[in-house]
Parts: sequence; structure tokens; C-alpha cells
Amino acid sequence: MSALFSSFKLKDITLRNRIAIPPMCQYSAVDGVSNDWHWGHYASLGRGGAGLVIVEATAVAPEGRITPACLGLWNDEQAQGLARIAAAIKAGGAVPGIQIGHAGRKASANRPWEGDDHIPDGDARAWTPLAPSAVAFGAHLPKVPRAMTVDDIARVRNDFVAAARRARDAGFEWLELHFAHGYLAQSFFSVHANQRTDQYGGDYAGRSRFLLETLAAVREVWPERLPLTVRFGVIEYDGRDEETLTESIELTRAFRRSGVDLINVSVGFSTPDAQIPWGPAFLAPIAERVRREAELPVASSWGIDAPATANRVVADQQMDLVMIGRAHLANPHWSYHAALQLKEEKPSWVLPAPYAHWLAKYRPSV
Ligand SMILES: Cc1cc2nc3c(=O)[nH]c(=O)nc-3n(C[C@H](O)[C@H](O)[C@H](O)COP(=O)(O)O)c2cc1C
Repeated sequence: MSALFSSFKLKDITLRNRIAIPPMCQYSAVDGVSNDWHWGHYASLGRGGAGLVIVEATAVAPEGRITPACLGLWNDEQAQGLARIAAAIKAGGAVPGIQIGHAGRKASANRPWEGDDHIPDGDARAWTPLAPSAVAFGAHLPKVPRAMTVDDIARVRNDFVAAARRARDAGFEWLELHFAHGYLAQSFFSVHANQRTDQYGGDYAGRSRFLLETLAAVREVWPERLPLTVRFGVIEYDGRDEETLTESIELTRAFRRSGVDLINVSVGFSTPDAQIPWGPAFLAPIAERVRREAELPVASSWGIDAPATANRVVADQQMDLVMIGRAHLANPHWSYHAALQLKEEKPSWVLPAPYAHWLAKYRPSV
């Protein structure tokens, strides 16, 4: 059996293989509530053969949505819709995960296919984003956010806790805190966004405080037996990479001590001036370094869609899980095709029986 199709156990949860589907926003919700689009999308991914399906960035508060069409988890109606989605993923044989987050200064934007830019002030759909400091991201996101008070910080931390509790009660078995991609938590850690002079800014300890306090508060309500994970942008590609990586790895060690079970290694996306070396599996060596130095299991993504590459990064112990994103939009049964390519003994059996039975002796030509 190839490394990619070996099982993976974390806490009391066993994934059927090392293939995970990372969170991918669908920008299709109304008032943060999911609908048939989300249900069909996630049910299909749950059946596709991956071990883990993580539901897209789900906002812990209304102002924490990236766009007005993002999912939320601050009320019971939203939780009910998500419970149906968790059940559908599980019925397909995958473990249902969810990413909860707050978009910070990148909030109040148009959907990617409608501009991806901040909604102009004066438009009824717009709101004022919150951030550690009144510093805009820039480029297509020029809106100056409101600097959070200490009361705001406590409120958002509580919003994370309430969302984690709802995710637990909705049947999710894997929680990912969105501490990446230039959104609120990453902004607290980033010198590009955090210019505070109080206990939530300044040195490494100050810039880490919001992340560690939020994590500790969520740890209290998220069951010990289920994986608690963090997606974290450990590098910005902004010319000060070794400094950022060193601090990031120090923080991932602190995450481990605070009860995090796995890090989803990603990019910071805190500045529009980054020079990101896009390419197949470009983040794999960084993931491997985090894995080794923080002594935590890691997942990562970005540009991994060839089954041989996905298998190699697991076999070479660069990652414990491989996140395969866009390739799953192209083909929800990516795992089955990967099993065929990697010459697994019974490739169709990554799929549920109603498909697997018919594909056992059949080899699709497309
Ligand atoms: C449509 C789309 C939506 C995304 N939404 C999220 C998200 O909600 N949360 C997140 O952390 N990353 C998000 N990402 C990034 C993906 O999780 C993933 O890291 C990225 O697509 C790179 O992996 P890939 O090369 O396999 O697609 C999104 C990417 C895409 C294409």
C-alpha cells in the first residue's frame, strides 16, 4: 500500500488515508446560513474517498465574514445547516472537519468572481472591519479597519468559543482554527498589521497573545478526544523569512503545549508585497521544518495535485496529511483516480460501496 493510502490516527479519530480536503469558501451563503449548494458540494466530497473534509472558513461573528456570502456559526440556524453537512460528509466515509475564523481587516469584500475587492463605503452590504490596528491591507483591500479595544478582543475570543461549541454539537470531529492568510488572528501575529503598544502587540509575546488566549479558551470546550488543529501562516515571503519562520515555529511549539494536535502549515498573506514562489508543492520543505522543529504532525497544501507528489511528501515524512484543494473541485473523486495511478490493490474501495462495486473491474478512460 502506498504511504498516501495508509490510515492516520489523531486522538480518537482515524482517517482512512492521508488525503484531506482543505477549507474552500463557496461564497454562496445568505446571512451565514448554508443551503443546498453547500450540502451537495460537501456530500459529494465526503463520498469521494478523502479521509478528511474540512468545511470552509466559517465566521464566528457577522463582521468576521470575508464576504456577505460566507458561512457563519454564531446562531442556531447556521448550526442546524452545518449539522446536516457534517452528517453527509460522515455518511460518505470521511471525517467531518470545520474551519472557524474571523476575517479581520480583509472582511467586507466582494466575492472573488465579483471583484475580490472591498465593498465600497456607503454600499448597504458593507461594514467596518475590525483589526489589531487601524492599518489597511492595501492593494484591492484598502479599507482602514477599526482598531479593536480590549473589550472587542475578549468578545471575539468568546465568539470563537461559542462557535467551537456549536461545531462540536453539530457533529464535527475535527476543528481547525483559522490563524492564517492575513485574517484576524494572523494579523495579530504579523508586524505588517499589528502596531499595538498594549499587551496585544509589540514583541513576540504580545503579538502571540490573542492567538494563545483564543486557543486556550477553545481548548476548554473542544473535546479532548477530538483533534484540535490550527491553520497558521508561518512565512510571508516578504524578505524577512528566517525571522518570521523562527518566531512562527516558536509559536507552534506553544500551540502544542496548549493542546493543539496538528498544524496546517500555510502562508501568512499579510502583505500584498509578498514574493511567493508558487510552484508544485513549494511549501513542502517548510512544512517538513515545522514538523521537525515543532514536533507536531503537519498538513499542508498549495500546488499538490499529482498523486505521485502527494504520495512522496507523505513517504518522505514532509507531511502527515496532504491537503488537495482545487483538484477536488475539478474531480470530487480525486482519491479514486489517485488510487488507480498509485496502483493500489483495490482502487475502487476508496469509494462507498454503491460506486465501488461497479468500478471494481471497470477502468474509466477519462
Ligand atoms: C475556492 C477556494 C476557496 C478557499 N477558501 C479557503 C478557506 O476557506 N480557508 C482557507 O484556509 N483556505 C482557503 N483556500 C485555500 C485552500 O485551502 C488551499 O490552501 C489552496 O487552494 C491551495 O491548495 P491547492 O493548490 O490544492 O488548491 C481556498 C482556496 C480556494 C481555491
